[in-house]
Amino acid sequence: MMKVWTRRGVVAVGAGGAAAAMLGLRMPIIAGAQPPPLAQKDTYVIGYPQTDENNPWRIAQTNSVRSEIEARGWTVEYRNAQESTQQQLADVASLIAAKVDAIFLPPREETPLAQAVLQAYQAGIPVFCLDRNVDQSIVQAGNQYVCFIGSDFYQEGARAAEWLAGTTGGQAQIIELFGTTGATAAIDRSRGFIDFLAGTYTPANPDSATAATPAPVAGGFPGMTIIASQTGNFTRDEGRTVFETLYQANPGATAVYAHNDEMALGAIAALEGQGKVPGQDVIVVSVDGSRDALQAIIDGKMGATVECSPFFGPIACDTLVAYAAGTPVPTQIINIDRFYDASNAAEFIDSSY
Ligand code: AHR
Repeated sequence: MMKVWTRRGVVAVGAGGAAAAMLGLRMPIIAGAQPPPLAQKDTYVIGYPQTDENNPWRIAQTNSVRSEIEARGWTVEYRNAQESTQQQLADVASLIAAKVDAIFLPPREETPLAQAVLQAYQAGIPVFCLDRNVDQSIVQAGNQYVCFIGSDFYQEGARAAEWLAGTTGGQAQIIELFGTTGATAAIDRSRGFIDFLAGTYTPANPDSATAATPAPVAGGFPGMTIIASQTGNFTRDEGRTVFETLYQANPGATAVYAHNDEMALGAIAALEGQGKVPGQDVIVVSVDGSRDALQAIIDGKMGATVECSPFFGPIACDTLVAYAAGTPVPTQIINIDRFYDASNAAEFIDSSY
């Protein structure tokens, strides 16, 4: 018998993928491999190898995870890879060597960090991927690691595109500020945006389906074109310098789609530096929901931002406890996020980060 993990629990099925499909169950099918077990204990040592601390979103995520672990009387073994994938790989290796009980991993890049997950699996240490995921052709949630907890990045891209299409009447020359190359957050935010404009977006994830899920638009938006796209590495400084260069080369741009608020704020600074009026000369849409972004919306400089919650501490720790208790854990736990624009930015700014 094979086992299928679903939101409803572990289900035994007889004949592989066909049976799972017939039952309408979601992947993955566990064929042999199982995430390492975790003993029930009063306290745990959690490895937390963070990608960087260079923006408010990362700092909010770190604070959420650290404070929740410490509030439970557990111990956190924290590492900061400072934007280096190599360093994050080394950090995971050091946590494995330290024999932590479990690892909360926000993978900087999906493919290299899949190898780190594999190493943890081989060492018998359960991994919970937080916020970004790893390459599913190498390791899978429910097999080599416990689960993915995070937002639906593909839907985020589509929500940004939907707002921009509505605001511009379907006419826009767009500069895309791409996140870190190889990060699921960047890959899927780009795909969702492009697919929505092309009319090929189909909500991929039943776990994140809400009334806010964009409805696919047949035919798409042929008047909306991405005229330039380059990584700004999710940082404000690179967002500003990259946008400056792209805007000089493409002065006809009418919109910016940034994969996070920090790069969007960098683009806004660049526009102002060139005597332009962000929000009027160039419309800005982004992802995250940071305090500075909500202020920029209130100030009319940014049009909208799709929320991507950084507050992972409680859900990550609760999931670990459930896993240790033998309670079936879904292979993906998707955050349901808000959308911020001029209608509600002032309402939420005080609870932002
Ligand atoms: O993976 C989530 C992204 O990473 C956030 O949007 C961004 O701000 C962070 O660096």
